[in-house]
Amino acid sequence: MIRINENYLKLQASYLFSDIAKRVKAFQDAHPDKEIIRLGIGDVTQALPKACTDAFHAAVDEMAQDSTFRGYGPEQGYAFLREKIANEDFQARGADILPDEIFVSDGAKCDTGNIQEIFAGDIKIAIPDPVYPVYLDTNVMAGRTGTSKDGRFEGITYLDSTKANNFVPDVPKEKVDLIYLCFPNNPTGSTITKSQLKKWVEYARENKALILYDAAYEAFIQDSALPHSIYEIEGAKDVAIESRSFSKTAGFTGTRCAYTVVPKTCMAYDKSGNTHALHSLWNRRHTTKFNGVSYPVQRAAEAVYSSQGKVQVKSLISYYLKNAGLIRKELMALGFDCVGGDNSPYIWVDCKMDSWKFFDLMLDEAGVVCTPGVGFGRCGQGFIRISAFNNYSNVEKAMTKIRKVIG
Ligand code: MLT
Repeated sequence: MIRINENYLKLQASYLFSDIAKRVKAFQDAHPDKEIIRLGIGDVTQALPKACTDAFHAAVDEMAQDSTFRGYGPEQGYAFLREKIANEDFQARGADILPDEIFVSDGAKCDTGNIQEIFAGDIKIAIPDPVYPVYLDTNVMAGRTGTSKDGRFEGITYLDSTKANNFVPDVPKEKVDLIYLCFPNNPTGSTITKSQLKKWVEYARENKALILYDAAYEAFIQDSALPHSIYEIEGAKDVAIESRSFSKTAGFTGTRCAYTVVPKTCMAYDKSGNTHALHSLWNRRHTTKFNGVSYPVQRAAEAVYSSQGKVQVKSLISYYLKNAGLIRKELMALGFDCVGGDNSPYIWVDCKMDSWKFFDLMLDEAGVVCTPGVGFGRCGQGFIRISAFNNYSNVEKAMTKIRKVIG
């Protein structure tokens, strides 16, 4: 008899953003004439930078000639891209990351979801609340939790991110083995300072723990004092894995390209306490289950680091940050407390009522889709997340509609 992985039964019926998409579709079907503006899921709307599409086209042309055609590439990514990433994203910031410590992939979602496979089933996990649901759901699927009670899974150490701590959780009092951190944060848009991050690195070193650092929104950082990478913190190379993505940086949500850094000095332990390099384990997993990102997509990603690409990416980020600034200003003028939107594309709004009620109010009355904060965890109750990924004119229109409902 074929049996299921019963851990899946512990999960909510559908993934947060699929659930929201279903609700929006039902509303649209019931009100076909009503205009809907989507500020929910963080999906980009602006075209890829021209430097990327030019490189993409040229690489497709190479694939059309026998003499330049490429079949399977290296699973870890082509050297031309890994070298650019190492130089531009890390060494230029004083972080000593080498090209062969970088694993190119098809998404930070996939990497942050898959990486837990290389750890023991009974390790203790710490997860922020609110949190990007992938970190939690993939650990539930893997059987690292009990069941969910009052919106919390047994066996997880939740790191509350609230107004009281400016949405940056402190290190836990107890000992945990694997810690998920994301900065600039999804969903709250909060950022972490070097001294706060240093405390986490020290905690991980003292407790032989590992930090999974999701820096998918790093390109939105404007404040020059903020760290872009955890490897800017001394000692982090031994205790942290970092994921990044071209999705939000350069509009690759549909094109798919990201990477994860697993430094060769990053160790974990077996039952007897012997050390093992996580780089070898992840390499084994990656080469077994992944066949690499397509050559044209990697060439398009490489173009992000060209001089024209850098200028175009900067202008893309400024475009979304202008949206974010407008959303934040308008919501604050309506009397809502907001965080994020300055170094991040997300604005976290204290909506002063139940998150789903506010979501329904926005959808039904204003035709604006946002994301209910409670969908990211119990501490998100009473908040909503508004995404800045849309056209500026749509954002202006959405703000006018919200003003009419709330103002
Ligand atoms: C979000 O809206 O949180 C993101 O789009 C999710 C993702 O990047 O997978």
